[in-house]
Amino acid sequence: MNYRHAFHAGNFADVLKHIILVRVVEYFKRKPAPFRVIDTHAGIGVYDLDGEAARKTDEWRAGIEKIYRRTFSPAVAELFQPYLDGVGAENQDGNLQFYPGSPKLVSRLLRPDDRLIVNELHSEDAALLRRTFSSSRQVKVMSLDGWTALKALLPPKERRGITLIDPPFEQPGEFDRLVKSVIEQQRRFATGAMILWYPIKDRQRVAAFYRQISALKVASCLVCELAIDQINGDGPVRATGMILINPPYPLHDELKVILPVLCTSLGQTSAATHDVRWLARA
Ligand SMILES: C[S@@+](CC[C@H](N)C(=O)[O-])C[C@H]1O[C@@H](n2cnc3c(N)ncnc32)[C@H](O)[C@@H]1O
Repeated sequence: MNYRHAFHAGNFADVLKHIILVRVVEYFKRKPAPFRVIDTHAGIGVYDLDGEAARKTDEWRAGIEKIYRRTFSPAVAELFQPYLDGVGAENQDGNLQFYPGSPKLVSRLLRPDDRLIVNELHSEDAALLRRTFSSSRQVKVMSLDGWTALKALLPPKERRGITLIDPPFEQPGEFDRLVKSVIEQQRRFATGAMILWYPIKDRQRVAAFYRQISALKVASCLVCELAIDQINGDGPVRATGMILINPPYPLHDELKVILPVLCTSLGQTSAATHDVRWLARA
């Protein structure tokens, strides 16, 4: 396991992923029934942008830094606000030094009866997560293989929930494992919302992945892509995608507003592109 998210925290892909994650959680909160979020590849929860790893790549400067203090139209600002509030909560002195990962962003949004399970295989990272959430009765930290954990954790006892699957893509076969995780969730918790993250480095592989997901006949599935430059084979990630299974219904229209703004704010060349479309629609 070589991947350390500290090198990438707050980059353009995190911004897209975390805005979407927070919007989905916000929609779940519109109904009173409690829900559970399962984060199978959770990372360490909060990242020091002034730390050695972040300073080595400076990826966050092309991500969160570009939108953190920017002024947006009222409609866009309203959509970004819960996410930016989550970043602000880690930076109370006004400087942008810390970036919250998915566990931190979600945990601050939970209501008293909602639950969050964060799973991280790397033992040192899991220990950091445990320390962060040691006094929380709503957040449970686990340290299993994320793909195995998913099977053990579905269905959530609340029967309402969101699964985030955000693997490092450092080993071959991650797209196939994502497909298997959708099959698993369909079998055990078909009504659950699911958020899958992946890099776009090879368009043909991604197109095949979309065909594999389409063949599963999920009730509704949205795909959302953001490229900040020409895609880059084996080089640094320049384009990212998210599959959203059973997304809250209004998310499609929101993403149609969000994606062009992110593309303009984070795009690095005229090759920057974005796309939002249904792969399956209920
Ligand atoms: C992309 S990062 C997660 C970032 C996090 N979800 C966020 O948004 O803040 C992927 C994480 O998965 C962990 N990981 C790698 N292989 C894993 C596995 N088989 N099961 C669980 N975690 C794994 C890595 O240590 C890394 O922290």
